[in-house]
Amino acid sequence: MKGFFVTGTDTHVGKTVVCGLLAGFLRARGIDAVTQKWVQTGTPGWPADLATHRRIMGLPEDVPPEQLDDLCPYRLCFPSSPHLAAEREGVEIDTSRIEAAYRRLEASHDIVLVEGVGGFLVPLTKKALVCDLVSRLKLSVLVVVGNRLGCVNHALLTVEAIRRREVPLAGLIFNRVPGGSRWSPEELLSDNIRIVEEISGAPVLGEVPFLENPAAGGDAFFPVGRAFLDRWKPR
Ligand SMILES: Nc1ncnc2c1ncn2[C@@H]1O[C@H](COP(=O)(O)OP(=O)(O)OP(=O)(O)O)[C@@H](O)[C@H]1O
Ligand SMILES: [Mg+2]
Repeated sequence: MKGFFVTGTDTHVGKTVVCGLLAGFLRARGIDAVTQKWVQTGTPGWPADLATHRRIMGLPEDVPPEQLDDLCPYRLCFPSSPHLAAEREGVEIDTSRIEAAYRRLEASHDIVLVEGVGGFLVPLTKKALVCDLVSRLKLSVLVVVGNRLGCVNHALLTVEAIRRREVPLAGLIFNRVPGGSRWSPEELLSDNIRIVEEISGAPVLGEVPFLENPAAGGDAFFPVGRAFLDRWKPR
């Protein structure tokens, strides 16, 4: 298995930060990891999430235009689900184009980390959900859980949706999102991890703490990276 899909319990839960930190962790250990974003919405021009991955990985933010179409095949302006952003711009999202770009990256790297768009059941087009393509490409899924009030329900729903499609679940990564502790005492945040693990039986790879500067979060990410590597052996 060399393809992982990094989904989240919601938008804005830390998928970009976790993708960048995991790719950086693997690259620091000699594993040629690359990140991909199938559809970037809300940022015309240069795809912001890809730039953040690369900043965290310590790579130049921009890539040659001929590589950009593989790293981020669709770049749309409107900040919404891909199906709506594409419709507004008269773009037809062709999942076979995304699949071909993924295959090229898979053939030329040790591991591909694909950052999702919002959550697992977001529509890519009116007919295809993100999870349909994940299932077709046989990717394993990592779920970033934004650790805050309400995330237990979102995490369990996401696990259920993944299992229902018989997609391999590589693990859950809890993440201390900004503002997550506003109405949530420490007791609640640590219980979120325990109860989700207990009820779902899914592997929890750990928790990323709140980071003043996510781009310099390599040391804090170490236990989660280690837990990932313990389960995944590069071929
Ligand atoms: N552990 C953390 N510590 C501090 N800030 C964080 C952490 N995780 C995420 N953030 C911040 O929270 C915001 C949302 O994170 P991020 O962009 O990674 O979420 P996302 O799930 O990728 O969002 P989207 O659905 O828009 O792609 C960003 O400003 C990011 O820097
Ligand atoms: Mg993101």
